[in-house]
Amino acid sequence: MPTKASSEPRNWDLRSDTVTKPNSAMLSAMLSAPVGDDVFGEDPTVAALEARVASLCNKPAALFCASSTMANQLAIRTHMRDPPESLVCHTDAHVFAYESGGASLLSQTQMIPVKPSEGHNLQLADVQRVFINNNQLGHCAPTHLVALENTMAGVIMPVEDMREISAFAREHGAKLHLDGSRLWNASVASGIAISEYAGLVDTLNLCLSKGMGCPVGAVLVGSEQFIGKARHFRKVFGGGWRQAGVLAAAGLHAIDHVWPTMADTHRLARRLADGLSKCGFEIALPVDTNMVLVRAPSAVPDAQRIFVEAALEKGVKLVTIYGNVLRIVLHHQIDGNCIDVLLETATTCFGNV
Ligand SMILES: Cc1ncc(COP(=O)(O)O)c(C=O)c1O
Repeated sequence: MPTKASSEPRNWDLRSDTVTKPNSAMLSAMLSAPVGDDVFGEDPTVAALEARVASLCNKPAALFCASSTMANQLAIRTHMRDPPESLVCHTDAHVFAYESGGASLLSQTQMIPVKPSEGHNLQLADVQRVFINNNQLGHCAPTHLVALENTMAGVIMPVEDMREISAFAREHGAKLHLDGSRLWNASVASGIAISEYAGLVDTLNLCLSKGMGCPVGAVLVGSEQFIGKARHFRKVFGGGWRQAGVLAAAGLHAIDHVWPTMADTHRLARRLADGLSKCGFEIALPVDTNMVLVRAPSAVPDAQRIFVEAALEKGVKLVTIYGNVLRIVLHHQIDGNCIDVLLETATTCFGNV
């Protein structure tokens, strides 16, 4: 007798969009990729991926990197050529909070993290408040770089805010880097082309191993001269790789086959958020893309733990961040059955209003 899919214990992992596994179509694209030695500039699949992403961004050049951390750190290292200089970013930006102090270690950079005075994203006034423009007495490290992140915690940074910050940075001779690890999601959800976002910044990084489902990889994009220098630093960082076309093939496959499914993932996230809110969950951040950040019903003692354990019993892995926020991350290997199971679990635990 067929059992209801929603009652079968499954192995759904909603802790992050980095947990995806390459499916058979991606693996066969990787197996059949033409390859060569990329340090000699002879890997045709790496070249094809770099050209494809550069063209999506309408920028002259791109560099395939092992990870988004590597791409961000290479960007900072390449921009920061005349220390002492400073970099302004959001306090929660990955480049500041989660890259192991890399900018200080690798680029002699003073990080100036700024908390938005209003809302979730940085706005021009936040950047202006901390931007170091005047170094007459030599006391300060002038700001040479502003680093933005879009999406951040799944929330889209409005293009208008990016535009204002970009104009300000340019006016003051500073560079702009975008950690666009999830810009794929932002572009799909906002309907704004990647190239439009990219036009507002000097450099950006697009990750392939998050919502795009690749096993590894990120692409750093910028001018010919910038990417040439970043390629040199990538070698220094130990990131000069050889037949990397097997990995680049996964990226090309993801752009053609995974990226187009992102809108469905976002719809599932919305459905989940609406359903959880009917069960008394508080929505902690706007659900713009693939992430649902919620707090379990506060009226129920120990609600978060009860829900996480009940979900795990049904085969759904969840993770709690910042102490009391559940960060539920959807990706292309999550289907409607999983959302049904999670909503049934929430209803069983807390009822439905
Ligand atoms: C916004 C953002 N940037 C950069 C990274 C670093 O990615 P990687 O794990 O590929 O180094 C992450 C990782 O989760 C991220 O969320």
